[in-house]
Amino acid sequence: MRVLLTGSRGQLGSCFQDRLPAGWEILATDSEQLDITVLEQVKAVVSQFKPDVIVNAAAYTAVDKAESEHERASAINQDGPRNLALAAKEFGCRLVHVSTDYVFDGEADKPYCEQDDTNPLGVYGKSKLEGEKAVLAVQPEAIIVRTAWVFSEYGGNFVKTMLRLAQERTTLGIVSDQRGCPTYAGDIAQAIIVLLQNRAAGGIYHFCGDKEVSWSEFAQSIFSIAVESGVLAQAPQVNGIGTEQYPTPAKRPKYSSLSCQKISENSVEPSNWQLALSKIIPSFR
Ligand SMILES: NC(=O)c1ccc[n+]([C@@H]2O[C@H](COP(=O)([O-])OP(=O)(O)OC[C@H]3O[C@@H](n4cnc5c(N)ncnc54)[C@H](OP(=O)(O)O)[C@@H]3O)[C@@H](O)[C@H]2O)c1
Repeated sequence: MRVLLTGSRGQLGSCFQDRLPAGWEILATDSEQLDITVLEQVKAVVSQFKPDVIVNAAAYTAVDKAESEHERASAINQDGPRNLALAAKEFGCRLVHVSTDYVFDGEADKPYCEQDDTNPLGVYGKSKLEGEKAVLAVQPEAIIVRTAWVFSEYGGNFVKTMLRLAQERTTLGIVSDQRGCPTYAGDIAQAIIVLLQNRAAGGIYHFCGDKEVSWSEFAQSIFSIAVESGVLAQAPQVNGIGTEQYPTPAKRPKYSSLSCQKISENSVEPSNWQLALSKIIPSFR
């Protein structure tokens, strides 16, 4: 299997490289080596490397900043995936693209299935939804993995922010009225690998953590593992606060759990995020 990876320096891109199966060849590209918004560049790299599959781990992921950077968010999250799909179609390879729980409005009361109606609340979610549509319009056999609340040992994420804040403060107010499923980027990478190995059918798959929590409950899990593993001397007190007490430029869904039923029929289990936390937090010591 020859894999062209985009966004190689991001959380998913880094974890994907760490898990590359033996015998697979990879061309891992960051935004300097391959800017997915430039179609000619995409076509040149694909025609030269001749991958069997393109794994798109590149994205504009700054949810709040996207509210004031519509054009950039749309170029990276909509035009970029379309460019990759066009090149995949022209040069005869498959595309795996990654999307988000933020394509939903959060009004559901049970985990979202792949066919549920989308209604993104912010610019980021809208740009990711347009990216999904652009990919499937060009290459219906492409695989799109929607995921949520991503963390890893790489890059910036909620886990690292919480551990930093815990060093600075003894009490933290964390949002407790938004619920979702944390997902370890290493497990997303592994899920993509299994889908490719199983030659899974094209279309959208939901993949996220196996346990739904609020942000404040997620923070408490992080702190208890950090104390157990000696990364923190003591956990700060976590006070649950309402979304209105932590205003952000982008509106977020209050509920965004994803049903992993479909992907589990392809031998992929949901992300055991508590296990992943207990493996990566000790390395932050
Ligand atoms: N993070 C989350 O909580 C979350 C939640 C749900 C879904 N997702 C989705 O999961 C996927 C992976 O997210 P992640 O957290 O791994 O993202 P990330 O850590 O923010 O990495 C994204 C990467 O995209 C690259 N990139 C940006 N613009 C590019 C361009 N024009 N051309 C090529 N590369 C470009 C960046 O590369 P440089 O560093 O080289 O600029 C960055 O390394 C994304 O599709 C995201 O939408 C993420």
